[in-house]
Amino acid sequence: MIINDQHYRTVWYNPSTNVVSMINQIKLPFEFEIVELKNYKETAEAIRNMTVRGAGAIGASAGFAMAQAFVENMDGAKEAKQFIEATRPTAVNLFYAVKKVFEAGIIGVSKAIEMAQSIANEDAESCRLIGEYGNELIQNKAGILTHCNAGWLAFVDYGSALSPVYAAQKSGKEPFVYVDETRPRAQGARLTAYELYNNKVEHRIIADNAAAFYMQKGAIDMVITGADRIAANGDTANKIGTLEKAIIAKEFGIPFYVAAPFSTIDFDTAEGSGIKIEERDENEVLYYEGPDDDGIIRNIRMASEGSHALNPAFDVTPAKYITGFITNRGIIKSSELEGYRSV
Ligand code: MRU
Repeated sequence: MIINDQHYRTVWYNPSTNVVSMINQIKLPFEFEIVELKNYKETAEAIRNMTVRGAGAIGASAGFAMAQAFVENMDGAKEAKQFIEATRPTAVNLFYAVKKVFEAGIIGVSKAIEMAQSIANEDAESCRLIGEYGNELIQNKAGILTHCNAGWLAFVDYGSALSPVYAAQKSGKEPFVYVDETRPRAQGARLTAYELYNNKVEHRIIADNAAAFYMQKGAIDMVITGADRIAANGDTANKIGTLEKAIIAKEFGIPFYVAAPFSTIDFDTAEGSGIKIEERDENEVLYYEGPDDDGIIRNIRMASEGSHALNPAFDVTPAKYITGFITNRGIIKSSELEGYRSV
């Protein structure tokens, strides 16, 4: 992705120094900063505290962390695997990447490094393909609603839900994106809008409860969201608030697409009820974060002292609300997923 005329991936790894570098998403859009993580514990902490977030980017970072662990100390690899896996429970890409790099590392450190790099490269290529397939669904001047950030920041490059939007824009169509603010962490307002702005895609941020209003007005032609884990039957875990958007879209007859690489499909989980939902700190709900007039980032409390909050990070949208999955292997219906189990 191009920022200030320079191409960046969200996360990358230099095996000769054993350093993982990533864009610090906690500071965006207020500051563009690259952080350098010198060992697997630092990389795992960056996943936990959401310096890096989004299913594909979490997966690539976790794979790199596992490779770092092998470089640090072969004997500690098993313990490191558990440490990395404990950072965030919902995105399956994390477990997929850690497992693959761990298995490769048993053969040799260089294999672990190779595997981690190839998982990151595959992620970028899958997202590029998602863009090509998804573009076929987008009409000129389409109004597209998206939730959270499933753009290039959520992956290694291109993104999932936003990749078709970028491909559409590149092919001369003029998509208009309605960006759900996506409380509590505001990944829509902070990250998706930042990406779209930098790519010169027309967009507006809307409050999380405004989607039905625009659907009723006929402004939204389709919804595209990402996914953190897709069960074998098509039930899909994604950022909290996705479920209600899917239900409303069905009510108004608006197609609801989930864009994700195959690495997000968890064939070992039969249905959505088997997906573990991450519960996060209540302060994410009770406070809002942003810069003051001097550019210093502050947390502002927005609730009465003494009130507590609940903060599930994801919800599960049943397959019946999902029109189709935009994947790196084409557009697939939930009823067809099972056929890909061993492909
Ligand atoms: O908690 P986050 O920011 O890691 O949330 C995950 C997501 O980025 C979204 O749910 C997204 O839509 C999934 S696609 C990477």
